[in-house]
Amino acid sequence: ALEIILSDVYGFCGGVKRAVDLAFTTARESENVKMIGELVHNADVNRELKDLGVEVIEEDDLPSGVTVITRSHGTTKELKEALEGKSNRVIDTTCPFVSRIYDIVWENNEEGVPVVIVGEKDHPEIKGIASYGDNIFIVKDEEDVENLPLQDEKKIAMVSQTTNPKKIVDKVEERLKGVFTGEILRYNTICKATNDRQDACRMLAQNVDCMLVIGGKNSANTKKLAKIAEDHCDHVYHIQTINQLDLRPFKKFNKIGITAGASTPDSVIKEAVSRMDNLNRDEMNNEMMEAIENS
Ligand code: F3S
Repeated sequence: ALEIILSDVYGFCGGVKRAVDLAFTTARESENVKMIGELVHNADVNRELKDLGVEVIEEDDLPSGVTVITRSHGTTKELKEALEGKSNRVIDTTCPFVSRIYDIVWENNEEGVPVVIVGEKDHPEIKGIASYGDNIFIVKDEEDVENLPLQDEKKIAMVSQTTNPKKIVDKVEERLKGVFTGEILRYNTICKATNDRQDACRMLAQNVDCMLVIGGKNSANTKKLAKIAEDHCDHVYHIQTINQLDLRPFKKFNKIGITAGASTPDSVIKEAVSRMDNLNRDEMNNEMMEAIENS
């Protein structure tokens, strides 16, 4: 029979759970609540907030005198100041692992130390981190290191997007050491939740025939889980919501591994497992039917 194995660590992390709790409490207890973009990269959570009356607003159309919930993966310094400047009550749901990076960048900036950030320049988390310094260099991977104008610096600091696999940051540091002779202050800013999920995903992917990864396609941590799964398993399916789960391709596998990104609620994961279980039952029913027919 089909074996379904859940990753040892998956789904909601402490940071997302905190943001979701804060947002739902605010939505239930306050009038006139707005939210900038998506709270977390999960369509179901964002829809439920809208159902509670929370209105999604754009960054270039800021309200005044209302309650505004900001994203869990961070907000730029300018946006937060602009919101407060317009007398809004700001419910800042930025994960503490991300705001810690703001402090690191800010402190180094105060000391005149340039900061290299390893991450995707268009991701809101990186935009938020970069807004806390003036002398910032964003690199996606080691390839981007070559042309950084750092020759005259004595010291540089280095931080990473919380969701990066450690391997990518190691390679950037190695390349930096090749082109830069000064001191490199590397801060470990990959969050533990990400690390644990990636390790568990790797282990699982090595031991199954196929992997199902659940989570937003715009979710950095989910995309990285899918990439790790692909590196260790030949058949990987990435779905964003439970409605996208098509069971047919899974019929040909014996062992299926399931993992989910940090903004995927438990209810979605449970539903996926239960639908897979149905597949199992169908298969058993078919076997029984065949056995009866052949008897
Ligand atoms: Fe925070 Fe890490 Fe989750 S940065 S939001 S605990 S994935």
